[in-house]
Amino acid sequence: MTSRILFVCLGNICRSPAAEGVFHALGTGAETDSAGTAGWHVGKPPYGPMQAAALARGYDLSDLRARQFEAGDFDRFDMILGMDDTNIADIETLRPAGNTTSVRLFTDFAPECGMDHVPDPYYTRDFDGALDLIEVAARGLAATT
Ligand code: 4NP
Repeated sequence: MTSRILFVCLGNICRSPAAEGVFHALGTGAETDSAGTAGWHVGKPPYGPMQAAALARGYDLSDLRARQFEAGDFDRFDMILGMDDTNIADIETLRPAGNTTSVRLFTDFAPECGMDHVPDPYYTRDFDGALDLIEVAARGLAATT
């Protein structure tokens, strides 16, 4: 059983905190966290427009704070989920020798959406489109945990 799941994006203020909040709301009992491969926003809450879009669907992200992904996360989590291929590549650069933790794309859990990444709403400004995809992937992930 996968019980500790880490969601990772670039800044840890849009996609991965949203994924964490949406997945947590499904009440699987899994331990969850999120992190960014970049350290630009460490200590900050999720981006305001993402918080607003999430809250409109009932997800309160206001208590989350950004942190940077680190090598120790490979030992702390059973599964690490990146939002795009760049996240996956950046995560893999920190994998300790001999570590076998599963690192996958979050969109693997939403095959019906036909997407190979979660488009970054920090750039696209499509916060609801990102949340639509995140909700489907979160339900798919919950069905496997
Ligand atoms: P995220 O989006 O990776 O989904 O949190 C971003 C947020 C901020 C920046 C880039 C991506 N930034 O360049 O500050």
